[in-house]
Amino acid sequence: MEAKMDNRAIGVFDSGLGGLTATHELMKLMPDENIIYLGDSHNMPYGERSHEEIVRLSRWDLSFLLERKVKAVFVACGTATSNALDVLKKESPVPVIGVVEPAVKEAVTATRNKKIGLLATRACVQSGAFQRALANASGELEITVQACPKFASMVEEGIIDKNDERVRQAVSEYLPLLKSAGVDTVILGCTHYPMLSDVISEYMGSGVTLISSSAAAARSVKCMLVARGMTAEKGNGGISYNTTGDEEAFAASARLMLKNDISSQLTRIEPLIL
Ligand code: DGL
Repeated sequence: MEAKMDNRAIGVFDSGLGGLTATHELMKLMPDENIIYLGDSHNMPYGERSHEEIVRLSRWDLSFLLERKVKAVFVACGTATSNALDVLKKESPVPVIGVVEPAVKEAVTATRNKKIGLLATRACVQSGAFQRALANASGELEITVQACPKFASMVEEGIIDKNDERVRQAVSEYLPLLKSAGVDTVILGCTHYPMLSDVISEYMGSGVTLISSSAAAARSVKCMLVARGMTAEKGNGGISYNTTGDEEAFAASARLMLKNDISSQLTRIEPLIL
């Protein structure tokens, strides 16, 4: 039987640039897919917003992508996933995948001592979504949670060098709790954080496994599209970027993150003003 194919794009959104870490993983796994990326940089950081605001912004992000006739929506943002995934799933005519469940599944498989740490934004931590998913996955886990309000904005500004004093200061503020709890697995619950994995890993030590919610979710998106016969034909791959923020700043930070100049594929769009 001939496999079904679907050449429509995959829509991906984040509050800003963090979702690029997930997009990058997805492009490696599925080079033939066409991707439409939306970074709502104007309204970033979502992690410092209320639950109601995050739901409203996430619905707007979803409708932007649906208007472009995407075949699936990848919520490449821990904060949006943890606060709005249920609403988006209910309202979307196409499949919607977030980062919480995939990251939790990989963390539970990775841990040996059953002590898992979670690093995420304030609003993500407050939603309790990761904590609930971990507790549902296994009753034996000891979970240590740390909100890291400075991390995402630092990444957004391109402050990612592990020798940068601001990076080192933030790491020494956020990581001692996880270290003293003896976790052997750390979930990077915000998609901006994989850009800081070197310095986080160096601090936590080589025996600690970092779980990138971006990479875990990208693998999950691939599994879903393959299982549903929704992958694209060979040679279809491409990406376009949209930002509600400053185009030059977005392109400059993206260049640092992706080692690639994306300015010719980038469009500025009007934000939702709250
Ligand atoms: N990248 C987003 C996440 O995964 C958060 C950044 C923000 O606070 O806007 O949670």
